[in-house]
Amino acid sequence: MDGSMAPGLWRAGERDRVDFRAQRMRGVELSGTVKAADIVAKLKAQGKEVISFSVGEPDFPTPAHICDAAKQSLDRGETHYVSSNGIPELRQLIAQKSQRDNKIPCEAKHVIVTPAKQAIFESILASIDPGDEVVLTDPAWVSYEPIIRMAGGKPVVVAVDARDEFRMLPEDVASVLTPKTKLLIVNSPNNPTGSVLREQDVRGLCDLAQDKDLWVLSDEIYEKLVFDGQHHSLAAQPGMFERTVTVNGFSKSYAMTGWRLGWVVAPEPALNEISKVQQHSITHPTSFAQAGGIAALKGPQKSIEEMAHEFRARRDLIVEGLNKIPGWKCNKPQGAFYVFPSYDFPMNSQELSDHLLQEAGVAVTAGSAFGRAGEGHVRMSYANSRANLQKGLERIGEACAKLGQRGR
Ligand SMILES: Cc1ncc(COP(=O)(O)O)c(C=O)c1O
Repeated sequence: MDGSMAPGLWRAGERDRVDFRAQRMRGVELSGTVKAADIVAKLKAQGKEVISFSVGEPDFPTPAHICDAAKQSLDRGETHYVSSNGIPELRQLIAQKSQRDNKIPCEAKHVIVTPAKQAIFESILASIDPGDEVVLTDPAWVSYEPIIRMAGGKPVVVAVDARDEFRMLPEDVASVLTPKTKLLIVNSPNNPTGSVLREQDVRGLCDLAQDKDLWVLSDEIYEKLVFDGQHHSLAAQPGMFERTVTVNGFSKSYAMTGWRLGWVVAPEPALNEISKVQQHSITHPTSFAQAGGIAALKGPQKSIEEMAHEFRARRDLIVEGLNKIPGWKCNKPQGAFYVFPSYDFPMNSQELSDHLLQEAGVAVTAGSAFGRAGEGHVRMSYANSRANLQKGLERIGEACAKLGQRGR
């Protein structure tokens, strides 16, 4: 370069400094649950003993036959690109599973194989225009709101309450709808509260969606972890398939969080748009991980039942244990592997979480990470051994007794 420039061009310093951050990233924070997990990993790496109630993944290994299938796929040299919407056999198996278990009237052509979180991202990006309103609960899983914001949408929250077992009630949803409402996000069984919608709730939400012409994103990732009652897929309700995008996956049911494998089932007009985001972003999930997915759906399903059985026993243990500690109150959730107890110590949920980590070596996630209505609560995952749950509860009891002694 000889230093001469075309007229009208500028040098660094001659115009306002260019900020990397796009407007759409304002108001988007890093994930509170990822942060909490990172802190625990760091403490453990330093040799500190931490009992973690903060993890959002089963503490069971992925069943061996699933791992073997992925290894065999690698050995066969299946390390190249596959079809963007997923390996045809896997799409077919997912469609069959959705028909059989969930009564969703779908075919393989309605399935895209993609990690569940990516499925949510793709679905929201493909459907939301700037200014569109998206209704979700408060508290809710940490990533819905940032994704809505990144897509330019406006999150509109419906507070849910322990008195109603944190269920998303149709009448509460109805009260926040406006002509700009485009999408309703439903998550049952729920993270962070463990709540499970009743059939009447599902019917009411579906009536509302049809009456007000809304699209629904139904996140059913914890489907297999329902201890009391039953799981009801929204897309199975009459007239709902045409307006529902169902997200599900392998992470929680088959203890496969690290595989990054899940799916979305959607009617064709929605699927075509979601496909575009997939094709222009991740192309497809890892080829040999999909071989593991095929083995998961084709193979024995016993591990799911065993895991659910164990989670149920742990739920009972943690709910009972927490309710015995002065200052704590915990309802009995019907699904997933989380409890969302409230407390009456004079501190916010982040301060309480910090206190428990420092004083008791117990990691929980502040309820505020899940929304304003989560304040006054913490989320505790019981994906940990019964012995650790017991020990953690004892330590929480001791650390909270100290709070009382300080006269707070
Ligand atoms: C409610 C909910 N939806 C979606 C996801 C994302 O699942 P995956 O890790 O399989 O992408 C999670 C993960 O914790 C979740 O809790």
